[in-house]
Amino acid sequence: MNTEIEPFQAIGVSRLAQALAAEGRSIIRMEFGQPSTGAPSAAIEAAHRVLDSDALGYWESPALKQRLARHYADTYGVDIDPDRFILTCGASPALVLALVSSFSPGDRVALARPGYVAYRNTLKALRMVPVELPCGADTRFQLTAAMLASLDPTPAGVIIASPANPTGAIIPADELGAIAKVCRERGIRIVSDEIYHGLSYVGPTHSMLEFEPSALVVNSFSKYFSMVGWRLGWLLVPPEHLARARAYVGNLFLTAPSLSQHAALAALDCTEELQANLAVYARNRDLLLAALPSLGLDRVAPPDGAFYIYASVAHLTDDSLGFCKQLVREAGVAIAPGVDFDPDQGRRFIRISFAVSTPQVEEGLRRMQPWFAAFRRA
Ligand SMILES: Cc1ncc(COP(=O)(O)O)c(C=O)c1O
Repeated sequence: MNTEIEPFQAIGVSRLAQALAAEGRSIIRMEFGQPSTGAPSAAIEAAHRVLDSDALGYWESPALKQRLARHYADTYGVDIDPDRFILTCGASPALVLALVSSFSPGDRVALARPGYVAYRNTLKALRMVPVELPCGADTRFQLTAAMLASLDPTPAGVIIASPANPTGAIIPADELGAIAKVCRERGIRIVSDEIYHGLSYVGPTHSMLEFEPSALVVNSFSKYFSMVGWRLGWLLVPPEHLARARAYVGNLFLTAPSLSQHAALAALDCTEELQANLAVYARNRDLLLAALPSLGLDRVAPPDGAFYIYASVAHLTDDSLGFCKQLVREAGVAIAPGVDFDPDQGRRFIRISFAVSTPQVEEGLRRMQPWFAAFRRA
């Protein structure tokens, strides 16, 4: 079994951006999916208060788990026992926990390609077998119930991501229901990565839990809640899975940062501030969608949610990594190469993150327009 894992190529572009910035160049950073806004102010205030009064030991906040249960009731209409939440240092360890507690080495796990780079690599690191399903414009770059129904042999599991990274594409509710049905019939365990929930431009996002109560759900405070560096997320597991998942978390990770748990409890009530961030992303998305055709980028995946645009550059290059490095060197705009998300077709795609301010998007476009025109001519 090939267990070698590839590096995250966007980090290479990012290092180059940092080096250029250190030389005094102005660089617009749109290569990572990280909000530039920071934690909501009430979360920061809560953290300040706690720093002065709490010893911050190993801890799982009962209040945060109760608040999260209320969030699921309010948002999705599902009733969750607060004890089913396992707090983690972000979605990344939640994903490791979900996989390691659900599957065995050698198990086959299906996922969409393009998809988040860590799915494939985490599966490989755990000696599991990623079964990548090539997904194109015909299925809105998402896997479907029909694809899962036709897999032979039947995989042990599937990772669903909606809204997805790198595309932002959302799986509609009826398709989520169809996926849940196929998985029930075929005994496929669902791991649903819902990290981009709350960031939708086309209406509410549905949790897989509305369709399949035994799904494992991964989520985090990194994206909608704008708390990337606080390293806090959660895994929701079905009751029969809890003891096993807790045994893993106790041995592999212990607890999530106490300070972040206090701050996150406050963040869950910062709706006004967080919706204002969403309004900025919506404006950035509109600006990009209006301007990208003038750059020659008229084939983009449906950016229903998250804060990404995944665009074809097939008419310009089949080396998206080299293309992104040249763009940052020559125009001072850092974006991610598609190869991270799809080692094959991704050579002809780029991902632009618009989790930045609107003036940064405007400046990025101002720089890219002449650069793309010159690239097309050359
Ligand atoms: C789809 C997806 N899942 C999980 C993660 C990991 O997020 P974190 O560990 O910061 O919560 C990311 C990060 O970009 C992501 O895009």
